[in-house]
Amino acid sequence: MFSRFLDITTPPTPNLLKHFASIATGEDQKRLEILATDSAEYEDWRHYSFPNLLEVLLEFQSVRPLAPLLIAQLPVLQPRFYSISSSPLKYRNEVHLTVAVVQYNTQDGKGPRHYGVCSNFLKDVAIDQEVCVFIRRAPGFYLPEKLTKPIIVVGPGTGIAPFRGYWQHRLILHERSQQLGKMLLFFGCRTKELDLYQEEKQEMVSKKIIDKTFLALSREPSQSKMYVQNMILDQASEVYKLLVLDEGHFYVCGDCTMAEDVLKTLKGIIKKYGNMDNAKLEKYMLLLRDQNRYHEDIFGITLRTAEIHKSSRESARQRMASQP
Ligand SMILES: Cc1cc2nc3c(=O)[nH]c(=O)nc-3n(C[C@H](O)[C@H](O)[C@H](O)COP(=O)(O)OP(=O)(O)OC[C@H]3O[C@@H](n4cnc5c(N)ncnc54)[C@H](O)[C@@H]3O)c2cc1C
Ligand SMILES: NC(=O)c1ccc[n+]([C@@H]2O[C@H](COP(=O)([O-])OP(=O)(O)OC[C@H]3O[C@@H](n4cnc5c(N)ncnc54)[C@H](OP(=O)(O)O)[C@@H]3O)[C@@H](O)[C@H]2O)c1
Repeated sequence: MFSRFLDITTPPTPNLLKHFASIATGEDQKRLEILATDSAEYEDWRHYSFPNLLEVLLEFQSVRPLAPLLIAQLPVLQPRFYSISSSPLKYRNEVHLTVAVVQYNTQDGKGPRHYGVCSNFLKDVAIDQEVCVFIRRAPGFYLPEKLTKPIIVVGPGTGIAPFRGYWQHRLILHERSQQLGKMLLFFGCRTKELDLYQEEKQEMVSKKIIDKTFLALSREPSQSKMYVQNMILDQASEVYKLLVLDEGHFYVCGDCTMAEDVLKTLKGIIKKYGNMDNAKLEKYMLLLRDQNRYHEDIFGITLRTAEIHKSSRESARQRMASQP
């Protein structure tokens, strides 16, 4: 149960801490009661230590829960989603994934090492080992029905995953003499070494499956920080032409903050080049969505979310400290 089906890595909820308080003794009991009832104390403790079940039991050693009661109180392990990163036309009986292995140290980097459950499981999975999976469709995230329409795809980091499927699909369709619209690919990563699928992308460019790729490096020494949206802005007139004038499609995949920033940049481009006021722009953006030409596949809560939470909590704390 503990190794396969229950969530033992997410910090225990206040409700579970209340149960622990009821069976703890001495100082442990006092502290657990505070954590279970004072939400500010709980949030500080949770965000700083992000403790898993084992760490909680080590911190409060008088807590010796009965195994059946513990099992009844723990949440069930949730599935993780990964974008399919290959085309069924190219790999008929395979599904490829592009996974970032999640590992971090808690307590501002000074605490114990934590390992993401699923990404580390996938990293270590043996060949021929059975893995429990199911498929969830993303109905709004397919290549355009009219394959001759241009596509602009934006996927920094593991956000590139679905687009590998796209270029593989386009390659096979091209080999079957299908006419294809232009494809621009915007990818971003920290340093040159993290440029995923570099060779495959080069091959696609040489075969004209991808017309142009743009690489935004955010932490390459001796280069100024670049994000995908900076590159999109550099290509503003072409983006406007392909998306608005040629009625192309725009796809974004990855972290939610990045997707918001990219959308903001795109809106700025359409507003400027289309000479629109805000009302006209909003109407056009609705039209893009109605015509299913603006597609998002957002990873939701990601590692970056933890980082953002941490920094916004820190700035809130500083604001409060500076108040008289
Ligand atoms: C639709 C969709 C598609 C996705 N596609 C992909 C994909 O193609 N490739 C991919 O790699 N991922 C993808 N993801 C993300 C993926 O589902 C998992 O969330 C990710 O792999 C982490 O899972 P995990 O089990 O390894 O980590 P978990 O055990 O879930 O641990 C991650 C959690 O650890 C915590 N955490 C992380 N870093 C820190 C820190 N520094 N400090 C404190 N706490 C921290 C956060 O609470 C975070 O949520 C996708 C998500 C969605 C929703
Ligand atoms: N330890 C490592 O060396 C290492 C390397 C890569 C990834 N990782 C971990 O793996 C996780 C997932 O990795 P990933 O490859 O999917 O993504 P990622 O490396 O976190 O992000 C991909 C690129 O997107 C950039 N980015 C961040 N915020 C953005 C924004 N608002 N708009 C546009 N671009 C933005 C990143 O820049 P910045 O990060 O510079 O802001 C990076 O260049 C990361 O969150 C990270 O913790 C670790």
